[in-house]
Amino acid sequence: MSRLRWGMIGGGEGSQIGPAHRLGAAIDGDYDFVAGALDHRPEEGRAYGLRLGLAADRAYGDWREMLDGEAARDDAIDLVTVATPNATHYEITKAFLKAGIHVLCEKPMTLTVEEGEEIVALARETGRICAVNYGYSGYSLVRHMRAMVARGDLGRIRLVKAEFAHGHHADAADADNPRVRWRYDPAQAGVSAQFADCGIHALHMASFVTGQEVERLSADTVSCIESRVLEDDAMVNFRMSGGTVGRLWTSSVAIGRQHGLTLQVFGEKGGLRWAQEQPNQLCWMPLNGRLEIIERGEPNLSPEADRATRVTIGHAEGMPLAFANIYKDLAETIRARKEGRPADPAASIFPTAEDGLRSMAAVVAVAQSGGNHGAWVDARPPMFR
Ligand code: NAI
Repeated sequence: MSRLRWGMIGGGEGSQIGPAHRLGAAIDGDYDFVAGALDHRPEEGRAYGLRLGLAADRAYGDWREMLDGEAARDDAIDLVTVATPNATHYEITKAFLKAGIHVLCEKPMTLTVEEGEEIVALARETGRICAVNYGYSGYSLVRHMRAMVARGDLGRIRLVKAEFAHGHHADAADADNPRVRWRYDPAQAGVSAQFADCGIHALHMASFVTGQEVERLSADTVSCIESRVLEDDAMVNFRMSGGTVGRLWTSSVAIGRQHGLTLQVFGEKGGLRWAQEQPNQLCWMPLNGRLEIIERGEPNLSPEADRATRVTIGHAEGMPLAFANIYKDLAETIRARKEGRPADPAASIFPTAEDGLRSMAAVVAVAQSGGNHGAWVDARPPMFR
């Protein structure tokens, strides 16, 4: 099987998310990392690209240069990852889709619903893949939860409770730190801070695991640090397409919480609990039964979970390997297209531009509802109403 050619924009030296992408893309041997515009400072980006093994003519200083350079080659990249700051995602994703290159975009895919609808339409029109990196959906046990719900182990799903609450912006004295301040500035962050940054991961997880879309929501948004214009804490109630009731808490002032992403699903026949900080264990309680700990890598899990795991049971397998599962799904889907065959359906569960758009509509809905005393609002993008 030939290897695919992969490029990256953003994710330069010292970036938070760049290494997780490079580890994730490398682990299964599906991709050669051949091109990059890794840094907003052209020379630093070029130099880092060379150190990572890129050829001199493909260690680009700027993403536009990379677009032109790759578009002119017979061996252009098959897939580009966009791991730059949020405000640039829309423009870069749009340009690469138009050039016929598949895209994996970091979240949030866009800053507005209109831009999101444009990207969805463009991906459909060009026939290119636009995936969005809701990377937590790549965890083996998250996929197992999804499989358990889909095969009916929990019966009808009554409730889903999602949290993404950390305490890393809790220091009021730090509110003027330039690395923190932009996140709460509407000119740079858009209409929402904490929900748009973290809440959307939790909301995506709720949809991914239950197989239902968010339809309506009511939000209580607050700025616990009063100088902030945008929210640093939100409680969101929502209703899903299959009738499930949703509760979501997100916060950046929850001192003592580290990452803080958890998902609980409660059905008629049992309940599940998973936490990102203990990703190798899943708590399962059947109705009238006993609490069981399901361990990643144990025998007789679902095919979905088995397909998404690599390291022997009892050893840590974390976020870069969850990203690796998104890359693995994309590799299968891209190869299937190249070979003119249907893709393995098990690979067709990676998050797409449609998910990115739904998230943006939810962000706008949270801002609207939060600004209107928690009024219930439609959370669906106009395109999907
Ligand atoms: P960061 O600030 O740590 O790194 C950003 C990198 O992009 C830097 O290397 C910077 O030089 C580079 N860059 C900026 N503008 C550029 C441009 N125009 N062209 C080329 N490179 C450019 O940011 P971080 O935390 O890595 O976040 C990047 C994106 O990833 C954000 O959109 C963020 O929301 C997302 N993210 C996603 C996570 C997930 O779990 N899916 C987790 C953390 C971040």
